[in-house]
Amino acid sequence: MATTNGTTDNGLPDRKTPVPSVLPHPVRDLDVQYNKIFINNEWHSSTSSRTFPTYNPATRQKICDVDEGDKADVDRAVGAARAAFERGSPWRQVDATGRGRLLQKLADLVERERVMLATLESIDTGKPFLHAFLIDLEGCIKTLRYYAGWADKVQGRTIPVDESFVCFTRHEPIGVCGAITPWNFPLLMLVWKLAPALCCGNTLVIKPAEQAPLTSLYIGSLIKEAGFPPGVVNIVPGYGPTAGAAISSHPDIDKIAFTGSTEVGKLVQEAASKSNLKRVALELGGKNPCIVFADADLDLAVRCAHQGVFFNQGQCCTAASRVFVEEQIYQEFVKRSVEYAKKRLVGDPLDAQTEQGPQIDQEQFDKILAFIESGKKEGARLECGGSAIEDRGLFLHPTVFSEVTDNMRIAKEEIFGPVQSIMKFRSIEEVIKRANNTDYGLTAAVFTKSLDTALTVASALQSGTVWVNCYNALHAQAPFGGFKMSGNGRELGEYALAEYTEVKTVTIKVCQDNH
Ligand code: NAI
Ligand code: MG
Repeated sequence: MATTNGTTDNGLPDRKTPVPSVLPHPVRDLDVQYNKIFINNEWHSSTSSRTFPTYNPATRQKICDVDEGDKADVDRAVGAARAAFERGSPWRQVDATGRGRLLQKLADLVERERVMLATLESIDTGKPFLHAFLIDLEGCIKTLRYYAGWADKVQGRTIPVDESFVCFTRHEPIGVCGAITPWNFPLLMLVWKLAPALCCGNTLVIKPAEQAPLTSLYIGSLIKEAGFPPGVVNIVPGYGPTAGAAISSHPDIDKIAFTGSTEVGKLVQEAASKSNLKRVALELGGKNPCIVFADADLDLAVRCAHQGVFFNQGQCCTAASRVFVEEQIYQEFVKRSVEYAKKRLVGDPLDAQTEQGPQIDQEQFDKILAFIESGKKEGARLECGGSAIEDRGLFLHPTVFSEVTDNMRIAKEEIFGPVQSIMKFRSIEEVIKRANNTDYGLTAAVFTKSLDTALTVASALQSGTVWVNCYNALHAQAPFGGFKMSGNGRELGEYALAEYTEVKTVTIKVCQDNH
């Protein structure tokens, strides 16, 4: 996945794996093959016969219509997933080694289809093709392989109890898992749920975001080709309040994993409580502090803070949306950040040079512009950008605000756009307090050459992840999730296995009378 130590010429975060010398090219004149509902390894029309359009945000043209699933289709999908989970079903008879093999096969197929999937992701979301290819798809493949490796290592414990008993635990699959995913990393957020769920032997009903459902549907075809039995993975495209709500309130879904807004996260948790108390994992927003001390490698800090907030058009739950800079270096930091922002290449996502594409849709675009206006009105200093790129649809100028104070809206709310807010601080205690003064707690970063400062800040921040002298350094092996209102539970790493297993305690009486 992405490891941002800086940027290369085309705006990609620096990565351990070098960018290939021959760059891949997107598929031109792509014909969408999968736009229906995927249940039992077959493609179905929606029960209502309704469809909805998905658009290319770069051109604002319709890519295709997609079958619009709602409650009736979710019910069918849940029926299929439940049958696939029944005792003695083909899926329940696949042993742990077999599940690992199937996940490896799926990883191979995603690798084979990497250009196609990256192209689909790019046209459906507007993200640069090369970023999708090198970051999103790499993350998907690595996550699938990581959990393939875990499949035959999920094991319980033997527990020492009163000596007249033998006591052990079994880590069993939970059952039918719902997954509701967002549009900013459609495929990656799907794989973060699908891979551990299948590794542990669950079945799935997935609802991709309506803004960008195409890569998720494509995965349906690869699930079938890989050899997963019918009903193990079911994908129902549709809208949140209909298909999404049918999943979160379904009485026969045992667990739900959601990535998206805090507002909808609360609805999902409420629906889960009111229906059947299904297990809930939530990955929600962030207002992530990026703290730069005066002793930091300034160039590194400027580049990482820039990538941290502008990557993926600013549409990241991990976005470095509050940059705190120590006062001695504040002016210089702002000056260099503005230089970076002004150089950022905004344009056609299919062009290899492009660093920033369009925002996902009109609603997000308007919301970001309203945030920019609030920043201007509340007295932040607009250093560059601050407006739409004229005649270019949903494209925005990379925007930098300095002299931002903690009470401004741009310092408090998740913007989800290419807007950098730079604040000033004077002491370590002050910055820790201010960094923690938010309802969110997803990620944080600290830039310093002092080990003491780094460790003090890393332990004081209320945040699921802390990066030191790097940004967006995500790995399939390391857990990811939020403190406070950024969510519940963890994705990735060994920790995610606990999210997809029930622990069963088996206690056996040893009959001593026989001796
Ligand atoms: P959203 O939370 O509405 O969408 C996420 C998913 O939830 C989509 O699949 C959507 O169809 C589904 N959904 C919507 N309403 C639902 C309901 N009542 N029941 C069940 N599922 C439902 O997010 P939206 O409106 O696309 O974006 C709004 C804001 O949310 C963004 O500006 C950003 O601040 C935040 N966001 C955060 C993300 C993250 O990675 N944590 C990803 C996407 C958005
Ligand atoms: Mg779309």
